[in-house]
Amino acid sequence: MTTPENGGEEGAAAGRVIDSAETEVDSHDRALRPTRLDDFVGQSSVHEAIRIAVDAAKQRDEALDHLLLYGPPGLGKTTLARIVARELGVNLRPTSGPAIQRAGDIAAILTTMQTHDVLFIDEIHRVPRSAEEVLYSAMEDFRLFMMIGSGPAARSVQLSVKPFTLIGATTRYAMISPPLRDRFGMVQRLDFYSTGELEQVIVRSAEALEVELEPAGARNLAERARGTPRIANRLLRRVRDYAEVRADGIITDSVADAALRGLRVDELGLDEHDRGLLRALIEGFNGGPVGLDTLAAAVAEDADTVMDVYEPYLIQLGFLARTPRGRVAMPAAWIHLGLTPTASSPDQGTLFETGSG
Ligand SMILES: Nc1ncnc2c1ncn2[C@@H]1O[C@H](COP(=O)(O)OP(=O)(O)OP(=O)(O)O)[C@@H](O)[C@H]1O
Ligand SMILES: [Mg+2]
Repeated sequence: MTTPENGGEEGAAAGRVIDSAETEVDSHDRALRPTRLDDFVGQSSVHEAIRIAVDAAKQRDEALDHLLLYGPPGLGKTTLARIVARELGVNLRPTSGPAIQRAGDIAAILTTMQTHDVLFIDEIHRVPRSAEEVLYSAMEDFRLFMMIGSGPAARSVQLSVKPFTLIGATTRYAMISPPLRDRFGMVQRLDFYSTGELEQVIVRSAEALEVELEPAGARNLAERARGTPRIANRLLRRVRDYAEVRADGIITDSVADAALRGLRVDELGLDEHDRGLLRALIEGFNGGPVGLDTLAAAVAEDADTVMDVYEPYLIQLGFLARTPRGRVAMPAAWIHLGLTPTASSPDQGTLFETGSG
């Protein structure tokens, strides 16, 4: 589904204003990232669990239990990891699954950390298995068992490391191996934010950016931010530009409307890419079921991006379902595109009834 309208051959979601994946611009926007737990909006059960665990660890003067954070992109996993280290008053040592090649990489990091420091592994589902095994004993009793040398000269050595906390983050909980999962004392899932919570995020960010924002404008942006603070902040920045150039700098409801119309973001926060995906599914495959790879190819996108970036919010809206036989467009998606749902594909009727993924 590549048309001149949705970006032609470029296809990839890169550059989408409502893309929930992190970009260079976002990562530079430190001003908007809360640094204390009290400033972290929403996620009340995660918030509460972390507050208690952090206070208890501090009281006992122990390392915090290892913490696994998972959920769709842009909901605050990295932000929370940084907040936890700050609240504990320790250093955060950030790395990521793809950056870890060998067991020795983990040893190199852990042996240079201070007592109770936090090791943050982003995309932890991508840590290679050989390195992951070193983590097991490190997490359990702060010991590293490593093989050095090779062939007949190989021998195993044992090193101890200072007590530390591992915080892992992932968008793919199912890809974490059970032995690793079991070694986290706390496993917390982040969910999409409510409109009210996103309004709070937007109001806070507007203050940091020193932009004047009317409540109706904040509401308007919050409704289209796909439950995701990263997108809320990105919409705010784009609408601020528009307000400064085309209006008097104040973000009102109608300024937000006009700016978002220009960005082709609709009232549910879907853009051309989302609508292109739904249209491909409905018009190209009669609503499905169709396999992820086939669907991704139809919109010239890679399967991981479709799964991590497009689908979670479409599922949340009830527009798309993951079924054992493939992706299915739900009636609400047809209606949103101004189409009439048909039940001509053989199993669609039953798939609609169960609506499960
Ligand atoms: N609860 C929150 N309150 C206020 N702002 C938030 C909150 N959560 C996230 N943000 C904002 O959204 C941005 C994205 O959050 P963050 O980078 O932590 O997401 P993430 O879950 O790590 O995403 P990814 O899966 O892509 O790594 C942050 O820079 C911050 O500005
Ligand atoms: Mg992150």
